[in-house]
Amino acid sequence: MTVKDIFETMEYGLAPEAAGDALAWIVDQGASFGHFINGDFTTPTKDFQSRNPATGETLADLSQARQSDIDAAVKAARAAQPKWAKSGGHARARVLYAIARALQKHSRLFAVLETLDNGKPIRESRDIDIPLAQRHFYYHAGMAQLMEAELPDRAPLGVCGQIVPWNFPLLMLAWKIAPALAMGNTVVLKPAEYTSLTALLFADICRQAGVPKGVVNIVTGDGAVGEMIVNADVDKIAFTGSTAVGRRIREATAGTGKALTLELGGKSPYIVFDDADLDSAVEGLVDAIWFNQGQVCCAGSRLLVQEPVADTFYAKLRARMDKLRIGDPLDKSIDVGAVVDPIQLDTITKMVADNTSGATYQAQTALPATGCYYPPTLITGLNSADTLMQEEIFGPVLVSTTFRTPSEAVELANNTRYGLAATLWSENVNLALDIAPKLAAGVVWVNATNLFDAAAGFGGVRESGFGREGGWEGLLAYTKPKGTPKPHKPIAPFTGKDEPSNPLDRTAKLYIGGKQARPDGGYSRNVYGKSGALLGQSSLANRKDVRNAVEAAQSAAGWGKTTGHLRAQILYFIAENLSARAEEFAKRLDTMQGGRSGQKEVEASIQRLFTYAAWADKFDGAAKGVPLRGIALAMNEPTGIVAALCPDDAPLLGLVSLMAPAIAMGNRIVLAASQPFPLAATDFYQVLETSDVPGGVVNILTGNHTELAPHMSKHLNVDAVWSFSGTDLSKEIEQGASGNLKRTWVNNGHTRDWMGAQGEGRAFLQAATEVKTIWVPYGE
Ligand code: NAI
Repeated sequence: MTVKDIFETMEYGLAPEAAGDALAWIVDQGASFGHFINGDFTTPTKDFQSRNPATGETLADLSQARQSDIDAAVKAARAAQPKWAKSGGHARARVLYAIARALQKHSRLFAVLETLDNGKPIRESRDIDIPLAQRHFYYHAGMAQLMEAELPDRAPLGVCGQIVPWNFPLLMLAWKIAPALAMGNTVVLKPAEYTSLTALLFADICRQAGVPKGVVNIVTGDGAVGEMIVNADVDKIAFTGSTAVGRRIREATAGTGKALTLELGGKSPYIVFDDADLDSAVEGLVDAIWFNQGQVCCAGSRLLVQEPVADTFYAKLRARMDKLRIGDPLDKSIDVGAVVDPIQLDTITKMVADNTSGATYQAQTALPATGCYYPPTLITGLNSADTLMQEEIFGPVLVSTTFRTPSEAVELANNTRYGLAATLWSENVNLALDIAPKLAAGVVWVNATNLFDAAAGFGGVRESGFGREGGWEGLLAYTKPKGTPKPHKPIAPFTGKDEPSNPLDRTAKLYIGGKQARPDGGYSRNVYGKSGALLGQSSLANRKDVRNAVEAAQSAAGWGKTTGHLRAQILYFIAENLSARAEEFAKRLDTMQGGRSGQKEVEASIQRLFTYAAWADKFDGAAKGVPLRGIALAMNEPTGIVAALCPDDAPLLGLVSLMAPAIAMGNRIVLAASQPFPLAATDFYQVLETSDVPGGVVNILTGNHTELAPHMSKHLNVDAVWSFSGTDLSKEIEQGASGNLKRTWVNNGHTRDWMGAQGEGRAFLQAATEVKTIWVPYGE
């Protein structure tokens, strides 16, 4: 066909990208790959093959790592880490910059190889995956350069185990490796078994870019290799993949002290209001659900359309679907390429076939005769409870329902166990910015979708996982505070005689929903002072009491919507009321713990309340200057309901140190008071009662931490568990938290100095908040 013919008929002409260079690179490597360990490739063991999903052809033989390979990779990473960390931010910045430059120089090779291996359209790998991977290394070269000046109190974690999926093979590698290296860590990374080739090309590039031996190690294989990495002697696991595997990793790492970030699945809502620019919203959907064949964790896979425009919108959408070009991913004009593997194609086909609700429409475009192709699909008229509205399909299948009012849209949008991303379309800025904060999602796009940048945090809430990738917030997960933590020495409660020192001062109840409540089980224990005198009884809370406290916290949800100014005033008021009773508290602390540090502890508690009153209206978000037409707002939102086990020592200061940052940031909290010394907490009820703290915002239980911890960590309405208990309950808590993947912050048997700088500051504020990234149109 000539150009003249094309102009006359307007028929589609193929524009294939040549695959020769990428195939030649594979052949140059012997068409079989070993692992990249300590700067060299191991001898290939040819255990499985990587195939082109568009044609079914074998691209290369790959090796399944054995335990000995993992051991060698971790050993190499461990040996290289101190020198890499000590080389300094500038030296690391140079290496990261060299990687970014090398990725640019070989960008077409990477793009073609990615498309061959994964099946995604070349337009996407060329214009999105590879440029974003480069951007990540540039951005983090800058972070390495700035680390010493901007993060003087942070140190690298050590060796990071990183496991990535097959949907954005090189990009996910970049998201993981760039921040890890910038902060002075070394890595052992496993690409997904379907798509390992660009990771292996990256390994080759590392040698050219001067990455020291052992700093980057890449091992290939399936989930069994992933499990070996999880169980290896590493300091952190960073995982992107399915929620089911994420949960298993949470369980496997529980109590090991390994840092963990999980970026998991989603069922992200795509909300179209009746005043939206419908044509733009249709184009947005092409990106939201047909980008990468819908195999995107944050795919806008759940369409919610406002009723008055639903019919028009669906008609426009079906017309657009019929125009999508499906076929050879190497064709530069293709919109929808091949699904990654026949297994994934079967899963999608079965999920759609099993659905009996709603009306199914599939694009009227012929699919290629061979290869893993699935037609763009729209299923309308579903109910929120239908399986396909709740389960991640991970394919080019859009499910939909309609709504009448904005509040119904929010309710439907949030009716999911996930919380990764959300998109909303409206020409009304007031409506859009009213809805964005109400959506349970880590990322919100306004009048756009699937925007990503290294400067903007990405990650989810709820069962979409925890931790952020990108931005300053993403760096935290690759660093730890400087210094060596001290092991905790358990404190045993005092024993004594059963003679009361003051017969009137007896019954310490629990504090639930702003009221003092008797313990459900009706059990108490005697609390003795150092002298052996009986000081009183404290209640022993049980599972029912935990549930009552969480219920009370749930009913105080309005606290999260109050202003920082109001929360500051209430914290100052608590400090004022504590100050009025300082002497009495100091005396109580001295009789309970022995010694004469009570006054100092009360004074420090008042100061700490002031600290968080100060922070309540100052722990601001940020506006990220992303290289797109828009701005990314990083908003600090409260985590929700926090359950916290207080330290044994510093019974008043420890409690205040956990309560104050949590409520300053808009959370509600359920506290388990110091186990050996609970009476300072029970005295504190009266301070709270007189300080205008709304009922349910602070709830305090007393009792046995070992008994309370599992109930707190397994409760589905608790969003985060913190433990500074004298008993090391890290394992129980992290295991219990795997159910709904709540956030955890545990002490792993270490103690901290509550009087000093370790007892307050940004770490507490960060634990009390989730960063929500809201992308809004801005500027030209
Ligand atoms: P997956 O979660 O099994 O695989 C992701 C990565 O984890 C791969 O590198 C895999 O080898 C590794 N892995 C598997 N089992 C492991 C284990 N026990 N321990 C450590 N690592 C392990 O995802 P899969 O099977 O490839 O896809 C299944 C579904 O997962 C998809 O249909 C989709 O719903 C979801 N998914 C979500 C992704 C996301 O970006 N959130 C990415 C990939 C898949």
